[in-house]
Amino acid sequence: MTNQTARPSKEERYANLIPMEELHSEKDRLFPFPIYDKLRRESPVRYDQQRDCWDVFKYDDVQFVLKNPKFFSSKRGIQTESILTMDPPKHTKLRALVNRAFTPKAVKQLETRIKDVTAFLLQEARQKSTIDIIEDFAGPLPVIIIAEMLGAPIEDRHLIKTYSDVLVAGAKDSSDKAVADMLHNRRDGHAFLSDYFRDILSKRRTEPKEDLMTMLLQAEIDGEHLTEEQLIGFCILLLVAGNETTTNLIANAVRYLTEDSVVQQQVRQNTDNIANVIEETLRYYPPVQAIGRVAAEDTELGGVFIKKGSSVISWIASANRDEDKFCEPDCFKIDRPSYPHLSFGFGIHFCLGAPLARLEANIALSSLLSMSACIEKADHDEKLEAIPSPFVFGVKRLPVRITFK
Ligand code: HEM
Repeated sequence: MTNQTARPSKEERYANLIPMEELHSEKDRLFPFPIYDKLRRESPVRYDQQRDCWDVFKYDDVQFVLKNPKFFSSKRGIQTESILTMDPPKHTKLRALVNRAFTPKAVKQLETRIKDVTAFLLQEARQKSTIDIIEDFAGPLPVIIIAEMLGAPIEDRHLIKTYSDVLVAGAKDSSDKAVADMLHNRRDGHAFLSDYFRDILSKRRTEPKEDLMTMLLQAEIDGEHLTEEQLIGFCILLLVAGNETTTNLIANAVRYLTEDSVVQQQVRQNTDNIANVIEETLRYYPPVQAIGRVAAEDTELGGVFIKKGSSVISWIASANRDEDKFCEPDCFKIDRPSYPHLSFGFGIHFCLGAPLARLEANIALSSLLSMSACIEKADHDEKLEAIPSPFVFGVKRLPVRITFK
């Protein structure tokens, strides 16, 4: 008898793609923070046999892991090599190459376009009595912007969204079958997007335009250009790293504002607070909950010995609520003196797209608040449903009723 679905290898069963046992109920996935509190108190660095990894829950330990690529390598699982899964010196070189497109100054030039797209989406939303923040607003905005940056035709945005969602989905559960299904879907998604971007690239080679793709084709460092595979990989990574995360940042902020009418009023009275709402949302409801690494040496963390080659999962969603770092960590505060959350990572892999994500979220929230008098849940009895992912934090749908001005 032939086995159609090969058993996933140790690398394929990478821990950050497998849900942890403690978070199996829907209620806990929607609000996992009390579970992180317990784990942080009782087992700040612990080994999980089922996922074959070390989990790290305290702020200082998480920061130590992210700050020390010599001890904790980014080469993890079977993911195709990308800037995200490289270590120095290779990472340093590639990062310098692509950095230019994402500096705050470069991103500022997108401001008018982001405002136009936001206004267009909200204009459409006005026609409806309730809107799904995800489907109607927070989902399309980052996809349209990144698709345009890459030079993909806007009509393809649904296609791009569908496949980029496939590439961030985790396994349904920790069974081999669920992991194999996820890998199968990911391979399909990757193959589709590779062909898609290969096609655009070949057009840009003969006909350069003023877009990110052309800039990446022409970029060089020490006389070297990116290879075609690196270019394609980078385009795919931008979709994977930038779409669902930004959607969830905007949606998680709106989710919180519908949960706390006092904060919603405070922000309405003084829109200078919007930047703080975004930073506090990043801390309180982080779109990415955990970051994976692999121990590059035998090492010690939080008094625990970790053997070279072990998977190490850093729970930023827990670190962000560490009482040793943040005063009243379970309160959403828009007047904190600073917001040293780890939601964009830390150190050499710090999120390249952070200036873009912050700008999009700022424009999205400012526009939404300035044209409305109130945003509330459309149906107070309807339960939210968490995105079924072990490392992404957000909801599948967020139906709201907006009282437009
Ligand atoms: C709220 C939205 C976002 C969140 C929460 C987020 C989160 C993160 C995190 C946690 C990392 C570090 C991963 C690690 O250390 O292994 C990261 C890296 C990265 N992000 Fe983001 N991201 C967001 C938006 C974006 C956007 C909009 C883009 C681009 C369009 C982007 C592109 C990247 C890239 C390319 C890296 C890899 C950087 C490197 O390895 O040097 N991200 N992001």
